[in-house]
Amino acid sequence: MSSSLSLILFFFIFRSFSISDAIVSPADTFQYVNQGNFGEFDSEYAPNYRPLPPFTSPFQLCFYNTTAGAYTLGLRMGTRRDESIMRWVWEANRGNPVGEDATFSLGSDGNLVLADGDGRIAWQTNTANKGVVGFAILSNGNIVLRDSKGSFVWQSFDSPTDTLLFGQSLKIGGPTKLVSRASTTNNVNGVYSFVLEPKRLGLYYKNMLYWASTFTELNNPNVTLVNATLEIQETEYEENYFNSLQCRLSNSGGQAYLDFNLLRYNSTLSYLRLGIDGNLRLYSYRRNVRFSSWSLLFTFFDRTVIPNRRDINEDECQLPDRCGKFGLCEDNQCVGCPSPTGVFAWSKDCNVKSPPCKAGGFRYYQLKGVDHFTVKYSPGTGPVKQKDCESKCSKDCKCMGYFYHTDRSRCWIANELKTLTRVGNSTHLAYVKTPIQ
Ligand SMILES: *[C@@H]1O[C@H](CO)[C@@H](O)[C@H](O)[C@H]1NC(C)=O
Ligand SMILES: *[C@@H]1O[C@H](CO)[C@@H](O)[C@H](O)[C@H]1NC(C)=O
Ligand SMILES: *[C@@H]1O[C@H](CO)[C@@H](O)[C@H](O)[C@H]1NC(C)=O
Ligand SMILES: *[C@@H]1O[C@H](CO)[C@@H](O)[C@H](O)[C@H]1NC(C)=O
Ligand SMILES: *[C@@H]1O[C@H](CO)[C@@H](O)[C@H](O)[C@H]1NC(C)=O
Repeated sequence: MSSSLSLILFFFIFRSFSISDAIVSPADTFQYVNQGNFGEFDSEYAPNYRPLPPFTSPFQLCFYNTTAGAYTLGLRMGTRRDESIMRWVWEANRGNPVGEDATFSLGSDGNLVLADGDGRIAWQTNTANKGVVGFAILSNGNIVLRDSKGSFVWQSFDSPTDTLLFGQSLKIGGPTKLVSRASTTNNVNGVYSFVLEPKRLGLYYKNMLYWASTFTELNNPNVTLVNATLEIQETEYEENYFNSLQCRLSNSGGQAYLDFNLLRYNSTLSYLRLGIDGNLRLYSYRRNVRFSSWSLLFTFFDRTVIPNRRDINEDECQLPDRCGKFGLCEDNQCVGCPSPTGVFAWSKDCNVKSPPCKAGGFRYYQLKGVDHFTVKYSPGTGPVKQKDCESKCSKDCKCMGYFYHTDRSRCWIANELKTLTRVGNSTHLAYVKTPIQ
């Protein structure tokens, strides 16, 4: 055999092999480059953005940036025609931005890849050679890679960051948490998380709980939470049918509901967001209206709370950051700035003086009738004596103060004080570390 023939044969075998291996047809592959003019309309976080062709009203993929040259590939909700702010409801690469000339591509192997101009892969679906035949943004905002049977090989609904769209769920064995964004300009993980645990839903500031669901069904030791789904139920109210938005919790023993007590119009274009401030809010979008496509349906930590329903709402004082670095909160307001010499008027500058680590360098001052944000939903330790609670804090350089309930002899150690709530209960004591001058 001549060498030229074997070369031809080689190419023939190589080509036919690569064609049979290519499962996304050439017409369905794409590569979009992050370059060109920016869009002109307002969107959340006031970024610059470049819309990409994949669009299923009202959802569109875009590159956006809130600082120079650091781009997120995000899914935007809202259209130009609304003349309402457009919001970011999913993102590929939080904390790992790409630059100018980055590419977003679906190769013939079925892998969806976000890469920098120099080829560095920032994010990918790891779906090469897994039977992917096509890409789509569905009408509910789910971005999917489908196989030839129509099943989802990958879906964006399985990788939420701070937002759950209608139909998207947290579930045990799947995504179990939402993590807040650090700030409008800095798209990295923030300090808050909303976590689905085997027995409850919890809201955390770092590792400190500031709210937990109280589903009596889950007190049964045989019952575990399987998943939580934000979903619409048809509800009859005074002989009219409405859609009400609920978080449905499925557990091994049946169903429990976290019913947000909302009766509204068809709101399947809704999302739940864990905000930068650690609050949970539910937004709803209406098509074909101008200037006011969005309604804020629900705010979890709110001034107007429904009495005795801590499972569906809480007071603003329960938000760790309500009074900033330090402050006393009462009836949703920051009412005081405690200090060793008494309580002064609150301002944003209210803070604690950092105590030195060494023993003898600090003392404690007492506040009566005050709780830390973590006291309400975590049991603390105990029964313990107050002096043991204090010595635990004294030995721990990170401890900024401790909280003690004299009626039940329970103890909480706090590495950050932030918002303290006035509870008008003289058995609830706070001891704040302060340097000895
Ligand atoms: C986005 O990045 C570009 C440079 O790539 C910069 O000119 C622009 O100011 C940035 N936009 C924002 C909102 O920071
Ligand atoms: C849990 O399951 C065990 C074994 O099936 C049963 O004996 C027990 O009564 C159950 N406990 C509750 C609280 O239902
Ligand atoms: C949640 O769990 C229930 C029961 O296991 C299941 O029927 C339902 O499909 C699940 N929902 C989601 C969105 O995973
Ligand atoms: C609710 O809205 C969705 C999305 O716009 C639509 O598909 C559905 O038909 C609507 N349902 C009703 C009962 O109007
Ligand atoms: C103080 O709090 C305890 C629970 O820690 C409660 O049992 C008691 O009734 C409260 N007292 C008042 C006056 O609110």
